[in-house]
Amino acid sequence: MALRLGDEAPNFTAETTAGPVNFHEWLGQGWGVLFSHPKDFTPVCTTELGAVAKISDEFKKRNVKVLAISVDPLDSHKGWINDINETQRCTVGYPIIADPERKVANLYDMIHPNALDNMTVRSVFVIGPDKKIKLTLTYPASTGRNFDEILRVLDSLQLTAKHQVATPANWKDGDDCIIVPAVKDEDVPAKFPKGHRAVKPYLRYTPQPNR
Ligand code: BEZ
Repeated sequence: MALRLGDEAPNFTAETTAGPVNFHEWLGQGWGVLFSHPKDFTPVCTTELGAVAKISDEFKKRNVKVLAISVDPLDSHKGWINDINETQRCTVGYPIIADPERKVANLYDMIHPNALDNMTVRSVFVIGPDKKIKLTLTYPASTGRNFDEILRVLDSLQLTAKHQVATPANWKDGDDCIIVPAVKDEDVPAKFPKGHRAVKPYLRYTPQPNR
């Protein structure tokens, strides 16, 4: 069955370009992003891995570890990383899982045979410090992902994990947030001392609490 939000991220051990990894141990107490690629030495994947390498400081700032996976073997990954670094002008510093037996790909339901034969589609899993799945995304092979959006979701997830707010459409770090319906009107002033405005009884905005 497909993994759902709130499920525990299945643990696994795998060979990676940075050595063997036990996923849960490797994640430690922080956040994680596991993202899959159809195949090594393919154009869109090459740009994606380069894009992630270039924003690796943004993931570190958010205490997020990044782990890529493709079903090709380790030697292939190592050669491909040289190409990525050369063509995308970056240094891939995060591990890539070699999954020729599709062990991890099957565990995370990353192979969609009606879309791509025997290759992983472009899946993304965001995993919280509690090892629970916080976000899933599935993109087709022809569409490179927008990693600024992954950072934006991480900002929202990390904010809402600590404060009783949600984030509206197209929200980005620094924008006003929405007070969740579970907060009673009478509790709003104490919980949101920066102020609030109620557009409707169910639509209450407040400045971002952690800014
Ligand atoms: C690509 O990364 O460009 C790609 C990979 C598999 C199928 C189609 C495109």
